[in-house]
Amino acid sequence: MAATLSPPALAAKASRLVAASERQSFDPFTDVDWSVPLDDSAYYLPPEFLPLYGTAAWHAMSEQERIAYSRHEVAALCSAGIWFENILMHLVLRHLYDLPADDGSHRYLLIETADECRHSAMFGEMIRRAGTPAYQVTPLLRRLGNFLKVTSRGPESYIAILAAEELLDISNRATMKDERVHPTSRRVAQIHVLEEARHMSFARAYIAEVWPTLSRFQRLMAMIRAPFIVRGVADALVNPQVYETLGIDDGYRQAKSNPLHRDRIVRDLGRLTGLLEDIGVINRFTRPVWRALRLVAPTPPGASS
Ligand SMILES: [Fe+2]
Ligand SMILES: [Fe+2]
Repeated sequence: MAATLSPPALAAKASRLVAASERQSFDPFTDVDWSVPLDDSAYYLPPEFLPLYGTAAWHAMSEQERIAYSRHEVAALCSAGIWFENILMHLVLRHLYDLPADDGSHRYLLIETADECRHSAMFGEMIRRAGTPAYQVTPLLRRLGNFLKVTSRGPESYIAILAAEELLDISNRATMKDERVHPTSRRVAQIHVLEEARHMSFARAYIAEVWPTLSRFQRLMAMIRAPFIVRGVADALVNPQVYETLGIDDGYRQAKSNPLHRDRIVRDLGRLTGLLEDIGVINRFTRPVWRALRLVAPTPPGASS
């Protein structure tokens, strides 16, 4: 299959993002103060972003148990980040494989790959210092991730990328601003927010520009697969091993079915699903699937019924 070269507006966006990367990039081993101990003096994520928040299991915990639980959740979240960044780097590298070096996005995509390498190194350091098991996403998600890495391309890849980046971005933004949260966790979140803003900007521009150029068959395949991919990304936010390790009876089931957690996923995916509605990936035929997978609200925004 011939390479899809970057259209002019996307190339212009990529060169602005290269300039932004030159102005602001971080080294996780010098720009984070790792000497501060990860003790349980503060939460590691804002409580409202913890999957168990507001459940019966949450109400049964003491404040100290909730803080320790948040440390395990941040380690699991960092692990989900590493899992997804690995997939993402595969997808970006496969995109790069097809591009000549004078394509307008070539240099930018190499920078994005390097950014993700540093993020995974930063998340790995957080996990190694957290005093928790090095959680990994479930075997099922790892198998699905392998499948995605080799079968996805084009706008569908960037929809998957944007799903993970949007979900992490909203919780990272809340984390970096929250004074209840441990300073190391806040700094890690801040670095991720600043560098991911470029990635999301590129992914949105790519999807909006390249989607209309696809054949009807390519669009149909991406429309069918997209909601299941986004569901897989969202599922990685709740790791059953956290609840097993902490001995929280029924914790995994309560977290998965927590209405606050489910509403949060729909809310935090809002910018992505709004874009997908604008370009027609979510339409009157596919919307019931997105709804059944609990990725969009029951009624589309602005609908009369
Ligand atoms: Fe990242
Ligand atoms: Fe990214």
